[in-house]
Amino acid sequence: MPHVIAASGLSLSFGGVKAVDDMSIQLRRGEFLGLIGPNGAGKTTLFNMLAGTYKADAGCILINGVDASRGRASARIGMGLGRTFQIPRPFPHMTVIENVLTGAQNQAAETILANFLRIGKVAAQERAAIDKAKGILNFLKLDHLMHEPARVLSGGQRKLLELARVLMADPSVILLDEPAAGVNPALLGFIIDRVRDLNARGTSILLIEHNMDMVARLCHRVVVMVGGRYLTEGSPQAVAANPAVIHAYLGVAAQ
Ligand SMILES: Nc1ncnc2c1ncn2[C@@H]1O[C@H](COP(=O)(O)OP(=O)(O)O)[C@@H](O)[C@H]1O
Ligand SMILES: [Mg+2]
Repeated sequence: MPHVIAASGLSLSFGGVKAVDDMSIQLRRGEFLGLIGPNGAGKTTLFNMLAGTYKADAGCILINGVDASRGRASARIGMGLGRTFQIPRPFPHMTVIENVLTGAQNQAAETILANFLRIGKVAAQERAAIDKAKGILNFLKLDHLMHEPARVLSGGQRKLLELARVLMADPSVILLDEPAAGVNPALLGFIIDRVRDLNARGTSILLIEHNMDMVARLCHRVVVMVGGRYLTEGSPQAVAANPAVIHAYLGVAAQ
């Protein structure tokens, strides 16, 4: 089974407006796939259907070959799917490491957190989760902030915290929704480096991103959506030079 995600015929309307209209997309095992399109193209809505946050009006979603169309978001995490949100909303008063621990699988996060706070009574399983969270925070260079409340983080650090939370569940595929938006250039280079590293170690990645430089540096292939529908696909260079793609972006800019 070469596809980690195979979705076909996905549609979703909001109050009669088709946000996504008969969209199909396949993510190959090990691939770094870009998803681009002007604002309002339906990219985030597609992510929400793939992740189980929204239920599709129509269509079929296979994750690692298993029909996930009717499962909820929590079930899809168990199937190896992780997703970051376009606008990160960490629990602001919880510490950075407590936020990461909410991404732990199998165990109710509240249990881990309750035990975490009860000093001296931390069971081995919870200690393992804490060690794992520390390793992830180290990988993402957030370890020095782990005991700070999440509210002190910059926009870019919040994007990294999103990724840290997702990595707690050992996903085989990650959906990244605009990880570079609002991130300063220095941190952007670091985020690019880390997601490339995850992909090199075997994680399949689907990336929504407006920063075409980032897309060109990371993506093997790019799918373009416009008006809720599939427009075209190709290499980053080919889609950036495609007149239909340029026209779609200019059309939206002119509205
Ligand atoms: N929860 C929602 N309720 C109503 N309309 C929505 C909702 N989410 C998205 N939309 C609409 O669906 C369309 C696609 O939005 P979205 O998926 O966010 O696009 P993109 O991520 O490509 O910018 C837009 O017209 C948007 O206004
Ligand atoms: Mg979006």
